[in-house]
Amino acid sequence: MSDPVIVTSALPYANGPIHFGHIVGAYLPADVYVRFRRMRGDDVHFVCGTDEHGVAITLKAEREGIAYPRYVDHWHGEILRTLTRFGIEFDVFSGTAAHRNEHHAPLAQQFFTDLLRNGWLSEREEEQYYSETQQRFLPDRYIEGTCYLCGFEKARGDECPKCGKFLESKRLLEPRSTLDGSRPVLRSSKHWYLDLGRARDEWLRAWFEGKHGQWKPNVENFVLGDLAELRERPITRDLPWGVPVPLPGTEGKVLYVWFDAPIGYLSISKQHFAKRGQPERFEALWRNPRTKLFHFIGKDNITFHSVIFPAMLHGTGRGWILPENVPANEFFNFEGRKFNTSSGWFVPEESVAEDPTDVLRWALCSMMPETADSEWTWTEFQARVNGDLADNLGNFVTRTLRFVEKFFEGRVPPAAGQPRANELAMHANAERAVREVDASLAEFRFRKAIAAILAFGGECNRYFDAEEPWALVKRDGGRAVAAQVMHCCCRMIDVLAVLIAPVMPTTARLLRTALGREAVPLDFASVLPHGFPTAGLAGAPLTAVFPKFTDEKGQAKTALFRKIQDERIAAERARLAKLAAGASDSAPPPAHPPAPTPRAGEAVAPTIEFETFAAVDLRAGTIVAAERHPKADRLLVLRVELGFEQRTIVAGIAASYAPEELLGRRVLAVANLAPRALRGIESQGMLLAGDDRDGKPRLLTPDAGTPDGTRIR
Ligand code: 2FM
Ligand code: ZN
Repeated sequence: MSDPVIVTSALPYANGPIHFGHIVGAYLPADVYVRFRRMRGDDVHFVCGTDEHGVAITLKAEREGIAYPRYVDHWHGEILRTLTRFGIEFDVFSGTAAHRNEHHAPLAQQFFTDLLRNGWLSEREEEQYYSETQQRFLPDRYIEGTCYLCGFEKARGDECPKCGKFLESKRLLEPRSTLDGSRPVLRSSKHWYLDLGRARDEWLRAWFEGKHGQWKPNVENFVLGDLAELRERPITRDLPWGVPVPLPGTEGKVLYVWFDAPIGYLSISKQHFAKRGQPERFEALWRNPRTKLFHFIGKDNITFHSVIFPAMLHGTGRGWILPENVPANEFFNFEGRKFNTSSGWFVPEESVAEDPTDVLRWALCSMMPETADSEWTWTEFQARVNGDLADNLGNFVTRTLRFVEKFFEGRVPPAAGQPRANELAMHANAERAVREVDASLAEFRFRKAIAAILAFGGECNRYFDAEEPWALVKRDGGRAVAAQVMHCCCRMIDVLAVLIAPVMPTTARLLRTALGREAVPLDFASVLPHGFPTAGLAGAPLTAVFPKFTDEKGQAKTALFRKIQDERIAAERARLAKLAAGASDSAPPPAHPPAPTPRAGEAVAPTIEFETFAAVDLRAGTIVAAERHPKADRLLVLRVELGFEQRTIVAGIAASYAPEELLGRRVLAVANLAPRALRGIESQGMLLAGDDRDGKPRLLTPDAGTPDGTRIR
């Protein structure tokens, strides 16, 4: 039996949504790695949950007037929903708040008392701001005042938004509490410090140096930098929410969030096994020197996972395992800037609503910031989907299976006779691809694995082209050779299924189904070359297993991967251009006139530049379904075909049209309007309409010859 493996992803703060940057940094690589190790037959435990303490959370919950447990519950649910959307499948996803995980606080407290007993903690009094009106200590972020560096009057206790410098709250001029504006006073408070310098000198540096060459160079360098400047770190805070310090006379003191969070990996495992009635498995795993522990995190978490948490684990003296590797990623940006959810600089959920999870996983893996910062751009996304997936992998799979369907009744032709040199060469290519992908994933080189898969896809396509099976079947005696070629191609699809499975698990299973091998485990060890039966297999017809969609010309299509049209990319870019230009999205949306009034003679609006007009993406479309809004008499809920996709659009036109008369009606739609809920139904755009003489809205219609999706300029 191989050594047990624990894989963790950074516990996300239950304090806001997670976006593509988080997914690509800590969750997707972990999930791909877990699937890969399982396909190698390893015993893997994939653990995660939300990080639910800390000042950032108390501050926001208080501002929103929500009790802390309810506040973190909300974000716990939202975050889990996003992770599920990306196909991340943990064994357990829990959290660190007491009401979610009863094992967390006791275990974190045990760490504290172990460290104290073993002499790793020291106690010290320090002055800290205190609010006499609220009778509580005020951590830095609860203080506001004038920046002592630049004079900005609304500097935060920990940093100045104007000059961008880190600040010491005690030096702020005119300090005030963000809770009620009152002036805080300095009071002395007792805190505990973890002696990291001593840990480094006694064992940590030697332990880390023993890993030389095994960790990713970007991580190793980062840690070396950290080790040079280690000092004592306070591990307690005065806060009303967190894990209480387990000592008498410490009311109001909790463990610092960064102290308790990584212990969450253990407490969540403990909870998981306890729930399954196997409590002994927790320590059997976490105190087993053979267990290999991997922490998947983003760059900003390296210090905590590579230095501080190991110092904590070791310092308890309980024999908790230390990380085998910390394959941290660098930063991931979005179209040249940092992701910023509050300003709209991110990939909105609806922008990728139609993209299959596997496609997003593939694109993200191929852009992963493994060794340097990288970014999501829409153009890159289109290239990865159209070039890698549709034109390379999808093309090979589809033409092979269609050919088998057409000329061999959907039955994989048996391998007859000895393979020729060409087939043997393909077997060698497949073996090399499996070796490369296996080795790359084992080293957390996800992009390298993707490149190896694509290189193999290219070889498969070239083999198909060179053999010209379409010509072979027409030639006397050529059918037997065509059968041989198709057998080989199917065998290659079988290998491809294994190669892509960690990144695109659903597609991998689909390929196996198309080959009639859905029951065969996807497994790295057995895929070659003996793994493929020589007798004919009956696969499922493509139309039964491949995704179906309507293409831009309105044709029903079946394909493994759907191409992304230029218009979609242009619309996304237009949205960003508008954001970048500082246009406000918060202006009231130009809704369908709620109470139509005659518009003739209405004054012309102020002049705009062409760019302002061009930012509006207008499209021709067709109404394919219409019904009354269940909650508003004047609204209709329409389904509009826009060529590249269908949208739900809620329109205030019930006074002018009955739903039945709108079916098939051509319309003009604003396609890049921010979605907005109208009486509970989300409208994903708006239809152009003008008022008639009675003030009733009348729809505008494009001229014949402008297909759905045509951009109107
Ligand atoms: O950066 C973050 O989102 C932290 N909540 C990560 C914590 S990881 C672990 F220590 F729990
Ligand atoms: Zn400043």
